[in-house]
Amino acid sequence: MGFSTFLLPLLVSLIFHNFQHSSSFSLSVEKFKEDVIVSSPKGKFTAGFYPVGDNAYCFAIWYTQPPHTLVWMANRDQPVNGKRSTLSLLTTGNLVLTDAAQFMVWSTNTATSSKQVQLHFYDTGNLVLLDNSDNVVVLWQSFDYPTDTLLPDQTLTKNSNLISSRSGTNYSSGFYKLFFDSDNVLRLMYQGPRVSSVYWPDPWLLNNNLGIGGTGNGRTSYNDSRVAVLDEFGHFVSSDNFTFKTSDYRTVLQRRLTLDPDGSVRVYSKNDGEDKWSMSGEFKLHPCYAHGICGSNSYCRYEPTTGRKCLCLPDHTLVDNQDWSQGCTPNFQHLCNDNNTKYESRFLGMSLVSFYGYDYGYFANYTYKQCENLCSRLCQCKGFLHIFSEENAFFECYPKTQLLNGNRQMDFKGSFFLRLPLSHEEYENPVQNNDNGGLVCGGEGGGAKLLERQYAEEKENGSVKLMLWFASALGGIEVVCIFLVWCFLFRNKNRKLHSGADKQGYVIATAAGFRKFSYSELKQATKGFSEEIGRGGGGTVYKGVLSDNRVVAIKRLHEVANQGESEFLAEVRIIGRLNHMNLIGMLGYCAEGKHRLLVYEHMENGSLAQNLSSSSNVLDWSKRYSIALGTAKGLAYLHEECLEWILHCDIKPQNILLDSDYQPKVADFGLSKLLNRNSNLNNSSFSRIRGTRGYMAPEWVFNLPITSKVDVYSYGIVVLEMITGRSPTAGIQITELEAASHHHERLVTWVRDKRRTRSKMGSSWVDQIVDPALGSKNYDRNEMEILATVALECVEDEKDARPSMSQVAERLQNHEPYT
Ligand SMILES: *[C@@H]1O[C@H](CO)[C@@H](O)[C@H](O)[C@H]1NC(C)=O
Ligand SMILES: *[C@@H]1O[C@H](CO)[C@@H](O)[C@H](O)[C@H]1NC(C)=O
Ligand SMILES: *[C@@H]1O[C@H](CO)[C@@H](O)[C@H](O)[C@H]1NC(C)=O
Ligand SMILES: *[C@@H]1O[C@H](CO)[C@@H](O)[C@H](O)[C@H]1NC(C)=O
Ligand SMILES: *[C@@H]1O[C@H](CO)[C@@H](O)[C@H](O)[C@H]1NC(C)=O
Repeated sequence: MGFSTFLLPLLVSLIFHNFQHSSSFSLSVEKFKEDVIVSSPKGKFTAGFYPVGDNAYCFAIWYTQPPHTLVWMANRDQPVNGKRSTLSLLTTGNLVLTDAAQFMVWSTNTATSSKQVQLHFYDTGNLVLLDNSDNVVVLWQSFDYPTDTLLPDQTLTKNSNLISSRSGTNYSSGFYKLFFDSDNVLRLMYQGPRVSSVYWPDPWLLNNNLGIGGTGNGRTSYNDSRVAVLDEFGHFVSSDNFTFKTSDYRTVLQRRLTLDPDGSVRVYSKNDGEDKWSMSGEFKLHPCYAHGICGSNSYCRYEPTTGRKCLCLPDHTLVDNQDWSQGCTPNFQHLCNDNNTKYESRFLGMSLVSFYGYDYGYFANYTYKQCENLCSRLCQCKGFLHIFSEENAFFECYPKTQLLNGNRQMDFKGSFFLRLPLSHEEYENPVQNNDNGGLVCGGEGGGAKLLERQYAEEKENGSVKLMLWFASALGGIEVVCIFLVWCFLFRNKNRKLHSGADKQGYVIATAAGFRKFSYSELKQATKGFSEEIGRGGGGTVYKGVLSDNRVVAIKRLHEVANQGESEFLAEVRIIGRLNHMNLIGMLGYCAEGKHRLLVYEHMENGSLAQNLSSSSNVLDWSKRYSIALGTAKGLAYLHEECLEWILHCDIKPQNILLDSDYQPKVADFGLSKLLNRNSNLNNSSFSRIRGTRGYMAPEWVFNLPITSKVDVYSYGIVVLEMITGRSPTAGIQITELEAASHHHERLVTWVRDKRRTRSKMGSSWVDQIVDPALGSKNYDRNEMEILATVALECVEDEKDARPSMSQVAERLQNHEPYT
């Protein structure tokens, strides 16, 4: 007989087969469009053959309404042929899926002698095989065998788990699994082709108490019932005490909890009749924490606007540009061989980057040098993590034998050091390594983007005119100024304050974060903009005192007329998120009508320029050295440690401010338009000159590509100025074009000449160039040589000959004169 159906009065479900007779019912794949079962009474779900590829079908359950979202599959990894495949209920009580009338690819594995076997399809989306004789027994139900989705009131148990799909369009088993572990804790695990690891709750917490911090918050392993369920109101409860409520909690909606192909668990909801799901909750998990997203030798980084992204390590190349999970392969050979000979290596530091797993060991209380030595001696060591443990108050060392599960996190307290062969050519500026190419600095014309910040009163107007004149004289020269932007994450609340920052203002500033001020508030703070402390191309800086008694510097921007408020906000927020002790902190902004103001921390010791020219000679040698080092660190952060690259493009002593402890803070960075990365690259109408004469790299003048090395150049000039006390701009009377390319050559050439002739001199060459204001012996000659040598490398004409800012910082830090 065909199959007859009848409704059990108590069950609001469709019973599409009553197994009273000996014949079996079957659905056939040929009629996959009609041969479906629709749940009753509301017909919310449909079960049937779902096409998953060319001539490939899976028996599945999906929402009847578009977008026909799949919620369950019987044979996700083994689709059946489009001809003669059937789903049949056998007389033995087994529900069987047969491929092309030949192979059984799936079955419920049930057997009963009862004649009362019925298949019910409930409006909950549950497909149930019942033995309906004397007492009703559930033989099998689809709710016990979820694929990647849990429906409301469907319980995840110790015997079931969710496995993600391979991708949004390929429903076969993917790499992520949600399950109850043997210790009763609900976990997410990456099960890759070669490796597997748990990534949620945060594995870093595993050794500690799960109850402390992070995603492990409040988990318990004492309840062994191992059940988790989402109810129809949007409340998820797991027996390990993990629970959350969706944003639309309490509303009755269609809901599903799905382990998505990217390893995140999300709850989606929608109203009846709507054709789009919206996300209403997810397991708290940083998008980059899911392991395996980015394969070996690559790391993941997340940005709210563009989402998650993988990046190869420096000097590595992507294996398969369709598939990041394949990772990257080194451009060099690890010269490690069976003989276990060590090879000469160097280490490239990458802060905030970490790799999980594959430690050669854990080494407590290891200094950087010890850790480096350990890794250098290990043939298979690919690099190491060096992390400061606040709990133990020492550094921990983790040499890595494989670089997997990499990610970059603003709150990561350590650094990764990549091992590279010594002989291999220099690692170039990562900008070139970046798939997005470069971005243009400054954006479209107009001076509004150029934030000048000068605490020293100077002949600014003259200099601005000069710059404008200069810019128009060079009108034909199109300069691509690249601006790769983005430190996206939120201000790191835990940032280490410099010892000098115990001034109340800075501490509060950090804690209070970034906010919007009203114009009247700022007007009041500055007493009607009465105390001017600086003036620059982009605006005037006033000293102000906020209502909480914080002293601040308020920059009032001119020339903002053609910039929309939202654009302005977008830019300002980016800068507000940058956070480094050697970068000036922005406390907030004001955008009201035509008013555009920026509120910064106030630096009581003014700018480096001011201090260098001051007659009181407060900058002794150790201050100068630490200013050079701090500035390098701040710039290195801008260039490399931010999640993207920011070029400053206008490094000069006026833009280096000094706090109460004479620690430098780089100012005036980043107020440029964030450009749509690719669209502007070839559009030279957006380009223009930036920078200040005397400090500008030759690339500007010769119309060469602009990279972070322009900042390195300017930095080098500033350092030479600090050493010698000579300004690169002093006494220039030649024409501007010449000025651009030659005037600072004087300072550079002069120092170079002194070094060249060093052998002929009895004393050290640095004695000849040192700022007379320092006195003849009041400096460390060794440090002086290091600084001068590094500075000269920074001002090499050829950009590739210049070190990167992080290399500079490293060398100054370690007192290493040569790389
Ligand atoms: C889905 O992915 C699996 C594993 O990579 C592959 O074997 C299968 O052919 C894919 N299916 C479709 C329909 O693309
Ligand atoms: C264990 O978890 C279940 C489900 O959340 C809960 O009903 C039960 O009360 C818990 N048992 C204990 C001892 O806490
Ligand atoms: C579970 O969470 C509740 C409230 O969040 C808390 O009161 C309780 O102590 C927790 N149970 C365990 C065993 O940690
Ligand atoms: C091991 O060392 C020997 C002698 O130094 C050398 O000939 C051989 O090629 C090395 N083996 C490998 C695999 O490099
Ligand atoms: C770390 O090592 C240093 C020097 O080896 C030692 O003085 C210090 O006590 C050690 N710290 C801890 C916490 O073991």
